[in-house]
Amino acid sequence: MKYGYFDDRNREYVITQPDTPLPWINYLGCQAYFGIISNTAGGYSFYRDARLRRISRYRYNNAPFDLGGRYIYLRDDETNEFWSPSWQPTQSDIVEYTCRHGMGYTTIGSSYKGIEAHTRYFVPLDENLEIWQLSVTNHRNTRATLKGFASIEFCLWDAQDDATNFQRNFSTGQVEVEDGVVYHKTEYRERRNHFAYFGCSAPSRFDTQREAFLGRYRGWDKPKTVEAGELTNSIAYGWSPIGAHQVNIELDPEETAQFVFVLGYHENPVEKKFDPPGSQIVNKRTVKPVLAKYLNPAGADAAFEKLRQYWENTLGIFQVNTPDAHTNRMVNIWNAYQCMATFNMSRSASFYESGIGRGLGFRDSNQDLLGFVHMVPSRARERILDLAATQLPTGGAYHQYQPLTKRGNNDIGGGFNDDPHWLIVGVSAYLKETGDWSILDEPVQYDNEPGSEKPLYEHLQRSFHYTLERLGPHGLPLIGRADWNDCLNLNCFSDTPGQSFQTTTNKEGKVAESVFIAGLFVYAGRELAAIADRRGLKDEAALYRSEAGKMEGVINEHGWDGDWFLRAYDDFGAKIGSKECEEGRVFIESNGFCALAGIGLEDGKALKAMNAMRDHLATPHGIVVQQPAYSRYYLQLGEISSYPPGYKENAGIFCHVNPWVMIGETRLGRGDAAFDYYTRINPSAREEISDLHRCEPYVYAQMIAGKDAPTFGEAKNSWLTGTAAWNYYAISQWILGIRTSLDGLEIAPVIPQKWPGFTAKRRFRGVAYSITIQRKGPGNSISLTVDGEPVTGSVVPIPTDGRKDVKVTGILS
Ligand code: GLC
Ligand code: GLC
Repeated sequence: MKYGYFDDRNREYVITQPDTPLPWINYLGCQAYFGIISNTAGGYSFYRDARLRRISRYRYNNAPFDLGGRYIYLRDDETNEFWSPSWQPTQSDIVEYTCRHGMGYTTIGSSYKGIEAHTRYFVPLDENLEIWQLSVTNHRNTRATLKGFASIEFCLWDAQDDATNFQRNFSTGQVEVEDGVVYHKTEYRERRNHFAYFGCSAPSRFDTQREAFLGRYRGWDKPKTVEAGELTNSIAYGWSPIGAHQVNIELDPEETAQFVFVLGYHENPVEKKFDPPGSQIVNKRTVKPVLAKYLNPAGADAAFEKLRQYWENTLGIFQVNTPDAHTNRMVNIWNAYQCMATFNMSRSASFYESGIGRGLGFRDSNQDLLGFVHMVPSRARERILDLAATQLPTGGAYHQYQPLTKRGNNDIGGGFNDDPHWLIVGVSAYLKETGDWSILDEPVQYDNEPGSEKPLYEHLQRSFHYTLERLGPHGLPLIGRADWNDCLNLNCFSDTPGQSFQTTTNKEGKVAESVFIAGLFVYAGRELAAIADRRGLKDEAALYRSEAGKMEGVINEHGWDGDWFLRAYDDFGAKIGSKECEEGRVFIESNGFCALAGIGLEDGKALKAMNAMRDHLATPHGIVVQQPAYSRYYLQLGEISSYPPGYKENAGIFCHVNPWVMIGETRLGRGDAAFDYYTRINPSAREEISDLHRCEPYVYAQMIAGKDAPTFGEAKNSWLTGTAAWNYYAISQWILGIRTSLDGLEIAPVIPQKWPGFTAKRRFRGVAYSITIQRKGPGNSISLTVDGEPVTGSVVPIPTDGRKDVKVTGILS
């Protein structure tokens, strides 16, 4: 069953039933001010950091699941009935409900007894605020006298503290109300220079104290004031500051009225905090003109149009037209859009990530670049430099850093031995996209220590050497706390409830080795060699190649199990991911990554490994992490065996790693298999089974329950996952084969046999490429013609004669 449909022309997913299996969300904002919004207007907003600058409050882990939001109520003054056009929180019997999640905006509305109402929510570009545009139409044949209410519950900034420290927080809340605008200024009197504001285009009455608005023992579903039809002009002093506005609406038949609400965030310079100086009154001089601009519907419409153009332009960088509608929709719209969200949020704030835990992951953010770098290269550049500045002098890396402070997170620390290599992968993706070699010369600190600056290139060198200095008994890389699989904790040996599997370490870490890191090392080593070559560092390039080659030898000798690649050796030196194992006999990560890295392409190992994936791990819902699932807790394996079989790393379908197998299949030239795996987890292709899948059909989820789970096929943890970038990368660069390289755009499709071809448009290094691929034979060998001239090889050279439009034709035979 479906809960809506794709409107590809408008780049929207239209939800037509409010009680979706789970809240289906969207992100507002793509620069500094962000909001999460569900299909029934739930969610919250924050400035840059979901933990430290939370603007509005949300209640996780509460029933109903999605509570707290940007709630609007309408009230009919003749019948005294009230309802929410977004269904929540009143859950009234509305009709014609629609929620349109689009690129950076969401419009939710419905009709109730002849009154149609829609609210469009979005964050204008380059502003730290969000706009709610409410339009109300009277379809009755009599005049309607209505009231509208808009409400938001403020968070007292630090979301963690806000949810726990009530003894203090119930006494700190403060607001001001001026010209009908509510200013939330808790702690502004002391060390905070920021405040939030909530304005309205037609203010009449307001409330700022939650209890005055809701009434005793009442929830957001039936506020006392809305029921009564009048707000009380309450001024919060402690307790729970909110912003609520009342607008009075008179509509003739078929008349429409529009109201604008603006929720914003602002920081004042310390010396200009108060106005007049010396008073305790918030200086509002900067925000007043901004409010005036956007509370005007014309100003709001113009900002919306700019946002629309921004996405038109951003998505226009890569557009494809293939025989498969799901591919087109994901590549052209939703997968690219999700890559923007994962880049912005890393794994911090979604409906599954609380925004108070993890900051930006080192490995995660580097991988996210694979799907993002072409959209806003300048921000990718900045991110790379921020990440590299948290690298430790050893070449190791903090596993995470806080976006607001940009400093490594000491609680989790480092020691995840795959981390440093992802910096090479990220930088390489950036260089291939932009050709901006200057980034390698940027001075970057280690561990954010002033004075420790070294060129970014040196960071990459240290990343590489980090592994060479940490090899285990077989010559494979030591795993540390974990590798890509955060739950393979081979040095943890935790038997105490509540300990972190990631940071508890009971073993010295001198024995357990990772074949996955070995594959990653080979891959990253060769990428680094190619970079060194271009810098004229021949000896260095040779060193990277020879070390990568040696590691390949070690993998062949100690990392091969006969029919597939081993996964690891544990602290006893016992094999993981081997025929010898009772459970966890075959794993996806080492096999996928080794094949992706080209290991075993020549001697048949990659082929065998990919066949093993097909025979042992592939299911109709995607490829599981390993088999057989761990049926009990293994002290020596850690968190992986803590999950019930079929969930998460314990044999769930971890969508992040499926693309490694897709890419592995393309390296073997098997386009049908690659595309088949791509389709199995493609959310759009799963739309028809929304009751089983349950998560949004327009974005990837981190996990789909594996075959060992009774909920096989059910997705969980949507939006913030490396799945977004890797699937985008696999389909665009390896299956469709439009691949960035250091020397130009490579065109090397490995598409299904029955596809007659496809077309694509790609803007790359200032040139617009129109690409037409035609299949003339069953294979993957390509003959290219560039502006009518045949070209040898598969790389389209970057024009040196100033051409800005290039036509490429590729014939597959
Ligand atoms: C989560 C983490 C990621 C890790 C993966 C597998 O997605 O964010 O860093 O690689 O789980 O454990
Ligand atoms: C848990 C999750 C894993 C994630 C890790 C990050 O271990 O199972 O997916 O990577 O937390 O902290």
